[in-house]
Amino acid sequence: MEDNKKRVLIVNGPNLNLLGRREPGIYGSCSMEEYMDALRARYAERVELVYYQSNVEGELINKLHEEGFACDGIVLNAGAYTHTSVAIHDAIKAIEAPVVEVHVSNVYQRESYRHTSLITGACVGVIGGFGMDSYRLAIEALLQL
Ligand code: DQA
Repeated sequence: MEDNKKRVLIVNGPNLNLLGRREPGIYGSCSMEEYMDALRARYAERVELVYYQSNVEGELINKLHEEGFACDGIVLNAGAYTHTSVAIHDAIKAIEAPVVEVHVSNVYQRESYRHTSLITGACVGVIGGFGMDSYRLAIEALLQL
């Protein structure tokens, strides 16, 4: 039987391994592992979800290169690198898979240094401020492309 499942990569950048424990007033109390279980159950029939997290900028770029020609779409929460990384911007431009930028928090309600994203211009779109549900909304957006 033909497998029509889409392959979607979710990439989390620095400090997002601590989701659920890190500043719960901002990021909530659900861990990414718990959230991935719920997402995988929800999309079991339609989407193969691959998860990757690193605190290291170059490793995030290597993963984008590795999956960027193999998967159907990427959901990227680059964490603080969102606001600093020309290299991640360039990596997104270099690959074929569409990338949706995601933030758990509404960065525009926070410090002004979070109001600038160096990666939005390389992404198909950006979703933020909906808590962990931002990841699901990004998957939905990718499935509509
Ligand atoms: C974040 C927002 C960034 O400003 C911050 O550095 C993060 C998380 C978010 O998901 O809300 O690490 O990307």
